Amino acid sequence: MGKDSVQVGLLGLGTVGTGVMQILQMNGKQISSRAGIDIVVKKILVRDKQKFRAVKVDPSLLTTEAAEILEDPEIDVVIELIGGLDVRWYVEEALKRGKFIITANKDLMATAGAALLRLARDNGRNIYYEASVGGGIPLIRPLKHSLGANKIVRIVGIINGTTNYILTRMDLAHLEFAEALREAQAKGFAEQDPSNDLEGRDAAYKLCILANLAFNSNLHCDSVYVEGISNLQQRDIIYARELGFTIKLLAIGEELPEGLALRVHPALVPLTHPLAGVLFENNALYVEGNAIGEVMFYGPGAGAMPTGSSVVADLIEVVRNINHQVENGIMEISFQDKNVVPPYELASAFYLRMQAKDQPGVFAGLANAFSEEMVSLDMIIQKRSSEGKAEIVLVTHAAKEKKFNAALAKIHKFAGIMAINSVYRVIPK
Ligand SMILES: NC(=O)c1ccc[n+]([C@@H]2O[C@H](COP(=O)([O-])OP(=O)(O)OC[C@H]3O[C@@H](n4cnc5c(N)ncnc54)[C@H](OP(=O)(O)O)[C@@H]3O)[C@@H](O)[C@H]2O)c1
Repeated sequence: MGKDSVQVGLLGLGTVGTGVMQILQMNGKQISSRAGIDIVVKKILVRDKQKFRAVKVDPSLLTTEAAEILEDPEIDVVIELIGGLDVRWYVEEALKRGKFIITANKDLMATAGAALLRLARDNGRNIYYEASVGGGIPLIRPLKHSLGANKIVRIVGIINGTTNYILTRMDLAHLEFAEALREAQAKGFAEQDPSNDLEGRDAAYKLCILANLAFNSNLHCDSVYVEGISNLQQRDIIYARELGFTIKLLAIGEELPEGLALRVHPALVPLTHPLAGVLFENNALYVEGNAIGEVMFYGPGAGAMPTGSSVVADLIEVVRNINHQVENGIMEISFQDKNVVPPYELASAFYLRMQAKDQPGVFAGLANAFSEEMVSLDMIIQKRSSEGKAEIVLVTHAAKEKKFNAALAKIHKFAGIMAINSVYRVIPK
């Protein structure tokens, strides 16, 4: 190609951008040697050029004019680290001008990934997005390449660090939800407005990206069923432990004969399951493939250096492709639309906690309601009663959700049951 370096434009020098620059400064020699050619960051777009930066960069690299990057024909690669959906225009413009894109932006890839990848294909370029899910954990490349020989049956992930931190603290330190959230915010693991994380929307976007790669599908992210953790009570975590489980916010994608099942919800995870040991802000993805069996990817799901590590790994791959003029096929273009199975058609075991009157016939009534809907019970405990009340906790065997819901509707009407406090799904060992 006759180049002696590949020029890069960075959009954003915040948390991840800083990590990227630190890694390039720390490991620059090895990175260039792996890429086969020198990598030069030519310009960095920021909002405020005067702002203090945690990384030393030549001030002449900073600009507040996107055109200085997008319109520079010498820049081959644009790394988008601003975030949000407004950057779509920058990405489109860069692709149209023949630049490769690297991004850590899950919102963009989950909502506009398919269209942007088509645009990349039409311009003979590609988009790399390893950092958009799981921060520093390699997930995109393993699903696209390393596990490519498999038919993936199921992916189960803990892919939101904020909620995993909160749930871990609720479990291990017996904190209530609000306390654990305050602590996560104080330590920088939760944003001031954490609703996207707590309500499961962040995990749903990430699941959408991963499921499309795992199942060769073109899913719309609104086909993911989403339930968050903000109603979770510490009491349920204590009961779950007593029964041999912990509670995690899971993102589950499965390919069933009827179609794809995609859901994000809190679930009881057996303490013996590898995902039960994923603690604090860490993330993990558990993958079941028909050749490999089960494999789990585990590590830091966010942070400047871990996320920067994924971005720079993408950069090495792009630069190798540019340097060796490797044909740049976009695998995602062949993905197909697939049917999505509604949650009520899916089968799960369920955990149920309720307040009952401490009187004869309550257990018999419960047993009847479940057996009429063909839902069988796996475990049941009754806690000491006070003032004529008892707390009953039970776990069912796997049943179709619509059957379980029908039993629940009967239980609601049952005079012996005063309140149904919590219902959570349970994943098998
Ligand atoms: N943080 C993580 O651990 C993490 C992990 C995985 C993925 N991600 C993703 O990585 C991306 C970046 O996240 P981040 O945490 O690094 O964000 P951040 O700390 O908020 O940094 C954003 C950067 O973009 C610049 N910027 C914002 N709006 C701009 C505009 N209109 N024009 C020019 N520059 C603008 C800011 O400039 P100033 O510095 O001048 O304000 C800042 O440098 C997001 O898509 C995020 O979802 C982040």
